[in-house]
Amino acid sequence: MKTSKTAKVTLVGAGPGAKDLITLRGLKAIQSADVILYDALVSDELLSEIDDAIIKIYVGKRCGLHSFTQQEINVLIVENAFKYGHVVRLKGGDPLVFGRANEEIGYVESFGIIVEVVPGISSVIAVPGSQGIPMTQRGVSSSFWVMTATKKEGSFSEDLKFAAQSETTMVILMGIRKFKEIITEVSRYRSALTPFAIIQNGTMKNEAFAVGCIGDISGVIKNMDVSEPGIIVIGDVVSEHPSFFEEEVQRVLYSSL
Ligand SMILES: C[S@@+](CC[C@H](N)C(=O)[O-])C[C@H]1O[C@@H](n2cnc3c(N)ncnc32)[C@H](O)[C@@H]1O
Repeated sequence: MKTSKTAKVTLVGAGPGAKDLITLRGLKAIQSADVILYDALVSDELLSEIDDAIIKIYVGKRCGLHSFTQQEINVLIVENAFKYGHVVRLKGGDPLVFGRANEEIGYVESFGIIVEVVPGISSVIAVPGSQGIPMTQRGVSSSFWVMTATKKEGSFSEDLKFAAQSETTMVILMGIRKFKEIITEVSRYRSALTPFAIIQNGTMKNEAFAVGCIGDISGVIKNMDVSEPGIIVIGDVVSEHPSFFEEEVQRVLYSSL
């Protein structure tokens, strides 16, 4: 079957998770879609708002579950656009931040299909921000560096080492499973009292967070569910988190007993 509608693809950033953190333009694109291809990071909260008449296809790549290759996703986007018309490719956060959006755009455009991009609120800033952790702070941190812990070929990111040697706020995505290694590396350059935060499922009902200092991560490691996506923030700005001071006092009190 082929539709009489013109094939069109819109890449939409779904925002960090909470359903009301998608942009108005993103919401309008979703409402006008014939098919939505969505990732693991798109929340159930947001999906439940979408009209049942719109075809929804999960193409996520969560660890341990069946996952589509990037090439399979590219093909699905094009096939559905020719078959049904308007395809929305819905991605967590902003589509252009660690989202492989450019690969999808290039492939889709090679078929002569028009692609529009609707930016989203990236988890990079929104997830720490919604916990009260700023990226920059006058007199504390004048920059922030967003990085992944692991590169394409699985090696540890060199950028992480460079960032650790500066005073920048480090924002690390896709690093939960490597948390210990990350902290070991950062500890080579920064003081044991440097604060960190881990926020998982940020802005959603099942949000979890932990704060501490890089010199003592044992408690955090013991309680962390590494299967959930999360962001690690390292830097003095984390001391702005409302519970940071309290957590530190408790730790010092218990360790001196
Ligand atoms: C492939 S990257 C995509 C980032 C996305 N494009 C963005 O702008 O937020 C996926 C990683 O983003 C982070 N992430 C995305 N949403 C998150 C959330 N709600 N809470 C915590 N971390 C999140 C996690 O580190 C996750 O492994």
